[in-house]
Amino acid sequence: MENKPRLLQNLKLLPALEARLATAFEVQRLIDQPDPAAFLAAQGASFVGLVTSAAVGANAALIGALPNLRVISSFGVGLDKLDLPAAAQRGIAVGYTPDVLNDCVADLAFGLMLDAARGLSAADRYVRRGAWRGAGSPATAPFPLGRKVSGANLGIVGLGRIGSTIARRALGFEMSVRYHNRRPVPGAPWPHEPSLLTLAQWADYLVVIAAGGAGTRHLINAEVLDALGPRGFLVNVSRGSVIDEAALVRALAEKRIAGAGLDVFENEPDVPAELMALDNVVLLPHIASATVETRQAMADRVFDNLESFFGTGRLLSPAPLPVAP
Ligand code: NAP
Ligand code: 8YV
Repeated sequence: MENKPRLLQNLKLLPALEARLATAFEVQRLIDQPDPAAFLAAQGASFVGLVTSAAVGANAALIGALPNLRVISSFGVGLDKLDLPAAAQRGIAVGYTPDVLNDCVADLAFGLMLDAARGLSAADRYVRRGAWRGAGSPATAPFPLGRKVSGANLGIVGLGRIGSTIARRALGFEMSVRYHNRRPVPGAPWPHEPSLLTLAQWADYLVVIAAGGAGTRHLINAEVLDALGPRGFLVNVSRGSVIDEAALVRALAEKRIAGAGLDVFENEPDVPAELMALDNVVLLPHIASATVETRQAMADRVFDNLESFFGTGRLLSPAPLPVAP
């Protein structure tokens, strides 16, 4: 019988995906090795595939430790933790899972927008601590009024696959949509705003869904937050690195913006204590794609990319080649 291709897995995956991978490949988990460096030195040359995720990625050192690597299959769409130039230099194919998560990430962006504006999480805390019962008495404040989402101005930073899905959702909320990308999207029905500051000034809600990485680091800085202003809300479902988190903490604490909804942070899973202490921000543990349906679809694409690569030499969803700086 022909030997199964040997894959290295550098994280825990959904049990169903691990079981499916084991049917077609010989898989070793780096996380199970007591001494990963010694394991890589001894066995690195035996692996032809690497399974990773958007969250964990693969750096140049890991890629370098796998001299016969031919393909990387990543669970997720973000490429900021994958060293694409290191892979491209060696002709290693890189597959990822775009599109299948657009709906759930867009849904969560709306969840965060509604929560930040209407105070769903804060209202839940208010009911649970018994404050609603006391609200009739002169000494207890009623739950504060929120802000309206329907009909408001929505600025999208990053009108890609997910950003466009968010824009389409906004139709149902009768919102006006504009967006900022480096380049206008051909055929997009929403106005492109070349200046991020102008977009932030116009927006009631600024939703960030641009790609992460060096090119977007701290794109949302103090100046952008001040342009959004004390009636504006920020939602981030892209990467923590896109926002200057220290500037955001100050803007929220000083009420220079109205509120924020955050699924991602600069140093996950560490969330700054200052953010934890604020009531005008909703904090989520990077769950935008985390539904049973979407995670299954992502798992299927991770497998299908590998099956296709080893069967035909082509990936179903190849990552874009890195652009020279
Ligand atoms: P995509 O289709 O590649 O869209 C990325 C968008 O970012 C493009 O429209 C791009 O437009 C824009 N962009 C890149 N650099 C920019 C810059 N400097 N200024 C303004 N816009 C810029 O990717 P996608 O599938 O929509 O995913 C977007 C990102 O969402 C992923 O990279 C990932 O980090 C994040 N994500 C997060 C979760 C989560 O769980 N929270 C889940 C999925 C994805 P231009 O190239 O024209 O600038
Ligand atoms: C992943 C994500 O859930 O796809 C991405 O870029 O951020 C999320 O969908 C997460 O990173 C798991 O790898």
